[in-house]
Amino acid sequence: MNTMNPGFFGSSNQNPLRDGIISYRRTPIEIESPENIGYDRIRFNLTESSVPDMEFTDLGLQIDRALSYTDHRGAPLLRQYIAEPHFDPRCVLVTPGAAAALFIVATSLLTAGDHVVVLHPNYVTNIETPRAIGCRSDYLRLRFDQKFALDLEELEHLITPDTRLVSLTYPHNPTGAMITESELKAVIDMVESVPCYLLLDETYREMTFEEPLPIAASLSPHVISVSSMSKSYGLPGIRIGWVLTADSELQERFLAAKEQIFICNSVIDEYIAEKVLSEKGNIVSGIRSHIDTNFQVVRKWMHANPWFEFVEPQGGCVCSPRFREHVSLDVKRFYTVLNETYETYVGPGHWFEMDDRYMRIGYGWPQSTELSSGLSCITKAVEELL
Ligand SMILES: Cc1ncc(COP(=O)(O)O)c(C=O)c1O
Repeated sequence: MNTMNPGFFGSSNQNPLRDGIISYRRTPIEIESPENIGYDRIRFNLTESSVPDMEFTDLGLQIDRALSYTDHRGAPLLRQYIAEPHFDPRCVLVTPGAAAALFIVATSLLTAGDHVVVLHPNYVTNIETPRAIGCRSDYLRLRFDQKFALDLEELEHLITPDTRLVSLTYPHNPTGAMITESELKAVIDMVESVPCYLLLDETYREMTFEEPLPIAASLSPHVISVSSMSKSYGLPGIRIGWVLTADSELQERFLAAKEQIFICNSVIDEYIAEKVLSEKGNIVSGIRSHIDTNFQVVRKWMHANPWFEFVEPQGGCVCSPRFREHVSLDVKRFYTVLNETYETYVGPGHWFEMDDRYMRIGYGWPQSTELSSGLSCITKAVEELL
């Protein structure tokens, strides 16, 4: 039997490869990610949406735990660190990264045909999971010409009596836009009046340039907050995230989902997260100062060059500049030259279902000198094509 034959199921009425309940497909941001194309091909990596990765040896850890299953909700001390100072550890469910938390939320609450309102552009899972489930997604668009600001009137217009979920991400990926606490409270009023749930992806919360907003889930049982250790702490490799809700029925439902998919998290990952969060204050202030230094590098480059314009980010470690209207060049060729000649990578617009005249620049991951060199390579690639 030739199992390699792509037409193997073609003649059969029963095609075991038909879509399941969820129609998974790979997205460009995953296919073209540095992990996929190989870090050795990249000299200046401006694609990342995080801060420099921590090294295991930086942590000075002697791991002395039994390699057992752990508490299905997550280790109690870890949940306490995640919840404090304003929330209740019983509202915390630890998950393998924010991505798993988002998946648990979407698959626990949504089914085909459900109406959802999703911020667009967005981190891919927030768009793709409701789409894969077959939801009716209405997109709340962030527009450059409106400084990527949240349009509350438009949101109100999109929410209908049968809306199940409103899904927002702040600080926003890929633009770095923020909302104020009063805007957040206005959104909460809207979801409470339907009623439906607000999912707030707060993965970049610690990287807000001003004071971070309160954990959104602490403001209403209609709000679900998601975050992780990946971005603000430079620990994407330990796969620790969490979902927070004050709604006890939802907590049970999310726990049931986690138990079906993962049972529990890795005991080693939880231990590392616990140790890092025990020094959260120092770590976050170091990270904020690194982001601030690097942001000044981007700002200087943006103001010095005549080809790009951008909306200044207010949080996170990414921004979404675009080519100015008068710049006429072959955009596809620009990315080829940037990648192949200058071994420099950014996130092209299509990663976010945007035009490729937009790009996401991740300025938190490289050291300042690498960031400057990468930005100079963008300059050289443009000059070569004009
Ligand atoms: C907004 C946002 N949410 C969630 C994630 C997933 O992060 P994690 O590594 O914690 O799964 C990302 C990753 O890029 C992100 O940008």
